[in-house]
Amino acid sequence: MRGLLLALIAVSVGLCAGVDPHEHNKIVCYWNSTSFERTGAGKFNIDDLKPALGMCTHLVYGFAGIKADILEAAPLRPDLDTGAGYGFYKLVTQMKRIFPDLKVYLSIGGNADPYEDTHKYLTLVETPEARTKFINSAIRLLNEYDFDGVDLAWQFPPVRVAKKRGTLGSIWHGIKSTFGYGKFKDEKEEEHRNGFTNLVRDLKAQLRPRNKALTLTVLPHVNASVYYDARLLAPNLDAVHLMAFDQRTPERTPKEADYPAPIYESYGRILQDNVDASVRYWLAQSTPGGKIVVGIPTFGRTWTLTSDSQISGVPPIVTKGPGAEGPHTAIPGLLSYPEICARLTETHVGRLRRVGDPSKKYGSYAYQPYNSDTETDGIWVGYDDPDTAGNKASYVKAKGLGGIAIWELSTDDFRGTCNGDKFPIVNAARMKL
Ligand SMILES: *[C@@H]1O[C@H](CO)[C@@H](O)[C@H](O)[C@H]1NC(C)=O
Ligand SMILES: *[C@@H]1O[C@H](CO)[C@@H](O)[C@H](O)[C@H]1NC(C)=O
Repeated sequence: MRGLLLALIAVSVGLCAGVDPHEHNKIVCYWNSTSFERTGAGKFNIDDLKPALGMCTHLVYGFAGIKADILEAAPLRPDLDTGAGYGFYKLVTQMKRIFPDLKVYLSIGGNADPYEDTHKYLTLVETPEARTKFINSAIRLLNEYDFDGVDLAWQFPPVRVAKKRGTLGSIWHGIKSTFGYGKFKDEKEEEHRNGFTNLVRDLKAQLRPRNKALTLTVLPHVNASVYYDARLLAPNLDAVHLMAFDQRTPERTPKEADYPAPIYESYGRILQDNVDASVRYWLAQSTPGGKIVVGIPTFGRTWTLTSDSQISGVPPIVTKGPGAEGPHTAIPGLLSYPEICARLTETHVGRLRRVGDPSKKYGSYAYQPYNSDTETDGIWVGYDDPDTAGNKASYVKAKGLGGIAIWELSTDDFRGTCNGDKFPIVNAARMKL
């Protein structure tokens, strides 16, 4: 009891002094609000957030975007976000009445904003006028809807997939635009890097007196050394959320499946990135450990196995493109954790064999091999489950980092269909922090 009292006093003193009460145990939970539009068991209602919000320290609402013609921050889905029908912006920030310690941020970008002919995330940072206009529009949104901060999940152009002998389909065709996602060569890299640094500095200068936070989400495949001047950014950021996952996706390497989100480089191959490499990069650039938050995906990446695939299932494995879509998420090449989990216990045809990760380095995978009797294709899925999410949280703790970021709530098992507990990935990771 006395210990608890002292702890409470310590927390309140910390709050008054402006010290981050969650310096090492941030549990940042992203929510893709468009998951409301799924049908059946995948449909995520605002009340489904509640069991998670008892565990999350921060809720990040995904996603707002940039209006291309005026370069201002704006709701991407006015009907859901701010419209008379649902008004999710208001409803999420009102969750603070039930969870008084919760901070709710509005995230801008997140690869949810459609790519257009002009790369608005680049042109916006080029001039002080455009930056100021954007900053004012973001502040208006925060004030009007009572958000506690803004998260910049800035859609810088992603790097090309590394060329590899024997890999034919190494083209990212997930997003179609004249820039050809992953093919675009930015001739003004330095200008964009400096412009973004100035945007962050000026935005934070407006947020600081309002007592609102500013975080950066580093999206997968964005080359941090090109676009982020980490040394100059850190003093103006409350946290950097590293989305070190999707290192392998069926769009980028359709003919070869591999661990999509390993903590360390997998044995015998050179990945473009992994959690540890990303963390070490930001630490080496003098980012305080307490500001580095490690992203954990709640979805798996899937590929189709054929008669050419090795029957062992061991990655890297020969495949032919994305695996079939799941019943709830309906996105080829992706399965949510409950969609995977349902197929681990399946007794008939769809059953997957799970291979865990005793090394605690790479993540889990599960697969169903090609069936030569019936000549039916199989599937391979690489994913984080509660065990491997716990390994990532243990890594964060051992390194003294700021915490974890769950991407995202609607693909965790929010109904508790796997083992009865809702949000098992959020929960398992938080227990290890
Ligand atoms: C959010 O969910 C919707 C509906 O399933 C999906 O179409 C969209 O791709 C998701 N967005 C992100 C950024 O994950
Ligand atoms: C990121 O950019 C740096 C500097 O241009 C380059 O050396 C590095 O190879 C790039 N990384 C990737 C994965 O393309």
